Amino acid sequence: MFYPQEVIDQVIDANNIVDVIGSYVKLNKKGSTYFGLCPFHNEKTPSFSVTDNGNKQMFYCFGCHTGGSVLTFIQKYENCTYSEALKILADRAGITLPKPDYSQADAARAKRREEILEVNKLAAVYFYHLLKSNRGTQAYNYLRERGLSDETIRNFGLGYSDKYRDDLYKYIKTKGYSDEILKESGLFVINEKDTRDYFWNRVMFPIMDVRSKVIGFGGRVMGQGEPKYLNSPETVCFDKSRTLFGLNAARKYKGREFILVEGYMDVVSLHQAGFTNAVASLGTALTDGNVGVLRRFTENVIISYDSDLAGRDATLRAIPKLRDAGISVKVVNLLPYKDPDELIKAEGAEEYRNRLRNAMNSFVYEISILREGYNQNDPDEKTRFETEVARRLSYFTDDIERDNYTSAISRQFNIDLSLIRDRTKRFALNRDNIRPAQPVRSADRQRKVKSSAIGTCMEIVLSYLAKDPSFYDKISSIIDAGDFTLAPYDRIAEIMFRQLQNGKINFSGIVSSFEETEDQEKAAAIFNYDFLKENLEDDIGKVLTDCVIKIKSNNLSAKLSEAQSFEEILSIKKQQEDLKKIQISGGQ
Ligand code: GTP
Ligand code: MN
Repeated sequence: MFYPQEVIDQVIDANNIVDVIGSYVKLNKKGSTYFGLCPFHNEKTPSFSVTDNGNKQMFYCFGCHTGGSVLTFIQKYENCTYSEALKILADRAGITLPKPDYSQADAARAKRREEILEVNKLAAVYFYHLLKSNRGTQAYNYLRERGLSDETIRNFGLGYSDKYRDDLYKYIKTKGYSDEILKESGLFVINEKDTRDYFWNRVMFPIMDVRSKVIGFGGRVMGQGEPKYLNSPETVCFDKSRTLFGLNAARKYKGREFILVEGYMDVVSLHQAGFTNAVASLGTALTDGNVGVLRRFTENVIISYDSDLAGRDATLRAIPKLRDAGISVKVVNLLPYKDPDELIKAEGAEEYRNRLRNAMNSFVYEISILREGYNQNDPDEKTRFETEVARRLSYFTDDIERDNYTSAISRQFNIDLSLIRDRTKRFALNRDNIRPAQPVRSADRQRKVKSSAIGTCMEIVLSYLAKDPSFYDKISSIIDAGDFTLAPYDRIAEIMFRQLQNGKINFSGIVSSFEETEDQEKAAAIFNYDFLKENLEDDIGKVLTDCVIKIKSNNLSAKLSEAQSFEEILSIKKQQEDLKKIQISGGQ
């Protein structure tokens, strides 16, 4: 964080959250809270809430669980960074931001980051020049033979890493960087025995973040060879699980949907053919981090993975992840071609556009893959297939949606409409009968907490503290902030405990102490935890006791394994014994 917390607080205080959000979303007051239609997911009834009572200036959507401070809202709505959002709000309130103030540790870290980004940039430019020089003739011809134009090569900054073992190292060294930084950049292997470049004799694809900073590289062998692609290792600038190749260009796309492909070459050739909304994850599996990033930019994704078995598997795995994030998904059929790059080369951009237009709804796609597993000429197998289809249809809770899917599936797969409707209804009814909508019984609730992850325990305790600050006095002799060892709970606990000692929690201050919207949202979720809905209200004393014990004993076990002296071990053992006796009551 490059601004002092006071400045951030000042900007937040000067921007009433209801006024700010009210200028984007129509809000209606209900009790002490305002409600409106959530701008971050599609909904027909308002579940998006904004609170501005006293120190709780927050928004939270009970539908998609997006939430946070006024800063979070601007970041998400305007698709901008933390500092950009701060600037927007400061301007709005007529506050002039001071020059960013770096704390020493932050400053050192930021400087290292900057230096690594500089090294990456220098390397990218160097690789590009090599490609265009005599030494890069083979690589240049390789790319041209793969159909890439000079303009595309320039736009993506494609390059070439030379055959010599320390060609780049020698060059970068002339710019005066320390070995420590060079090692950390991931572009070099530096140890007692050896100093050399990481990439040799490869065509280089610079990987950029959303602001077009080079954060890493993918290098392809020319022709055959293993590994086909080599990627930079992760660094302080390069988190593979959150990076999408091509996003820096795709984010400027004016349309609504993104195309998700498997490989670098697919992205490059799609952009060249005019599909500038194509992005690829690095490696085939789409991560939750990728989905989170995608969700910031779009609600519609068309998957265009390879048509082989691996690509199909990856598609089936990506669909539920995207869907769970509220993204509507379609799937492109590339057959008989292997990937988008091949299809475009063989049939041209217009044909790919057709394929996009005919992309299959992801649910229908899943059913069509399912169908291949059943022999449609065998009556038994056909019955089993249709039963499975009905089972899946029965999970749609919205009547209209379910009905639309049912008729589409009936048409497409030639299943009698009234039969499948009946079967679907029966599944839905049975499910309701087996699991009637009753509150969870107390024993279940206990089990739920007992078996849940330590992170959930931290979340519950922090949520309860937020709801009832007097709870602090009951637990402060048992646990402290240091017992919260998981991110982002560690930081939330640290700030919250400090504030509680001084009497009052500043919710938006805590939320805005995180730079990543994902963390801000987690913090917001904690402050909006619905104990009633989670069925934790009645038994709250027992639940909290379990959680506190679990958090404490988790940390004690960790300490025990690191204990240096006998006294230390004894003291930890004693604390473990004491822990068994505690009993915390909930409520005020
Ligand atoms: P081309 O053969 O150049 O057209 O590549 P492609 O884009 O068709 O790649 P492919 O379908 O083989 O793989 C898709 C993506 O998986 C690549 O873009 C890489 O990100 C990744 N990948 C492929 N091979 C390797 C490998 O050997 N190592 C690593 N780390 N990643 C790979
Ligand atoms: Mn491919």
